[in-house]
Amino acid sequence: MSERVLTLTAMSSGYDNTAVVRDINLHVDRGEVVALLGPNGAGKTTTLGTISGIVKLMEGSVEVMGHAVPKLRKAHQVAQWGVAHVPEKRGLFFQLTVDENLKLAPGLTGPTDKAYDLFPALKPLKGQLAGTMSGGEQQMLALGRGLLSDPSLLMVDEMSLGLAPVIYEKLMPMVRQVADETNAGVLLVEQHTDLALAQSDRAYVLSHGDLVLEGSAADLLRDRHLIDAAYMGVEELDSDEEIDCPHCGKTVSTSATHCAFCDLALPENGA
Ligand SMILES: Nc1ncnc2c1ncn2[C@@H]1O[C@H](COP(=O)(O)OP(=O)(O)OP(=O)(O)O)[C@@H](O)[C@H]1O
Ligand SMILES: [Mg+2]
Repeated sequence: MSERVLTLTAMSSGYDNTAVVRDINLHVDRGEVVALLGPNGAGKTTTLGTISGIVKLMEGSVEVMGHAVPKLRKAHQVAQWGVAHVPEKRGLFFQLTVDENLKLAPGLTGPTDKAYDLFPALKPLKGQLAGTMSGGEQQMLALGRGLLSDPSLLMVDEMSLGLAPVIYEKLMPMVRQVADETNAGVLLVEQHTDLALAQSDRAYVLSHGDLVLEGSAADLLRDRHLIDAAYMGVEELDSDEEIDCPHCGKTVSTSATHCAFCDLALPENGA
């Protein structure tokens, strides 16, 4: 049986005592690439932050490698349990060189060679300041640094952010390669849905803080319209019931929390 590296059970979390993601059930096994998709503001970054102990866990549980992530933010502890988090803005020290950035990798105990083996393009840049690298090179450095600690779970937030398609189309398969070669589980947050699904085994779709869709990447690629509907704020895609939005008058599903047309909140249960 495959080993589970991450389990979220009925997880809610957010900021200033207000939950922005609610009742999330999600898991990642070793060697799997799992995409976490959803429109801007859906709660993807918040979910990753909660897993790595940066954002406050409010309800439910987060388990990584069999350890329960504490409600009090303990990012250092979670990193020690084998979680590497490559954040949206890559988290590099721009005034330090490539090699210095690698030496500061959380949980690093040995040499930095492995990052250069994984990303040979970094080798000639060893002494270059991270702040002077191209976006694609910075992303490779961020990934390489994340992988130095031999993580059981690698989380990558918006790898393609700010990069030209020609660059992120080359980087994205590297995530698959990491899962295949190191047997780490990967949780991949990405705006480029098709590209992410092409490298993933399974995917979850978040909308307005709720998980509205999940399935195998192959099924979701085939039923692409389900993802489009989820991005428009439809919560239960198999529901046929409809109401008129009280704000704009357009017809929407009773199960949506927000109108797909004007984005204003809908009354609960279509009441
Ligand atoms: N530090 C914070 N304090 C308060 N609210 C926040 C904070 N960070 C995010 N939020 C809010 O939480 C919600 C979810 O944001 P989050 O960044 O998780 O979304 P996302 O799915 O990652 O979006 P994007 O695709 O734009 O990166 C948004 O409404 C956002 O405004
Ligand atoms: Mg985000």
